[in-house]
Amino acid sequence: MDIKIAPSILSADFCNLQSDLEAVKSADLIHVDVMDAHFVPNLTIGAPVVKRIAQVSPLPLDVHLMIDSPDVFALDYAFENVESITFHLKPAQAPIRLARRIREKGIKACCALNPAVGLEGLLGILEEFDSVLIMSVEPGFGGQKFLASQLSKLARLKKEIKDRGLNTKIEIDGGINKETIGLACRAGADIVVAGSAIYGERDRAQAIKELREIAERA
Ligand code: DX5
Ligand code: ZN
Repeated sequence: MDIKIAPSILSADFCNLQSDLEAVKSADLIHVDVMDAHFVPNLTIGAPVVKRIAQVSPLPLDVHLMIDSPDVFALDYAFENVESITFHLKPAQAPIRLARRIREKGIKACCALNPAVGLEGLLGILEEFDSVLIMSVEPGFGGQKFLASQLSKLARLKKEIKDRGLNTKIEIDGGINKETIGLACRAGADIVVAGSAIYGERDRAQAIKELREIAERA
């Protein structure tokens, strides 16, 4: 199985982003966390900085919007070299319209669910999305502990996708490390985000290699 590894630059050095991007080029995607201090209690970067990251990144970007008004701002991130735009289902006013607007730009639309948000509101509109991101921590910060309670949600979603013959990918984000990546991949994750488990190591390429090996064995 082909698992994609997406290092989250939330744990990178924001004063040395270009070299920290180069350091993880053996991964598959760069995960960029946009936070607005409303949807989550933290503030990161906005469209002008993401635009520049997209220009210099050796890998395509996976832009994760943790913001209150994705309907208003999501398309601001539709840059070249952005592979997917992820927005949270709960704050979206018109998720179907928003997903279609993202796809019209040739960018994958991804729907994110917080740990306390169930699959109910998503299953009826699953076809609108290229992927679903399951949050395995409460969003806002890197370095938190993996919530194993999300594994059954992941497995249920995987079964639904299979039963309906869809090609929707499942992404997992939060608390992924050498201990938890196997659990997530066994439950059906296709894309795995890891921030502190990669940028917290001196040798980022080695950290990616080890995570990939465990994921592929799972
Ligand atoms: C958290 C972010 C994550 C974060 C993951 O709200 O969405 O992408 O960077 O960090 P780790 O892998 O350290 O849990
Ligand atoms: Zn994220």
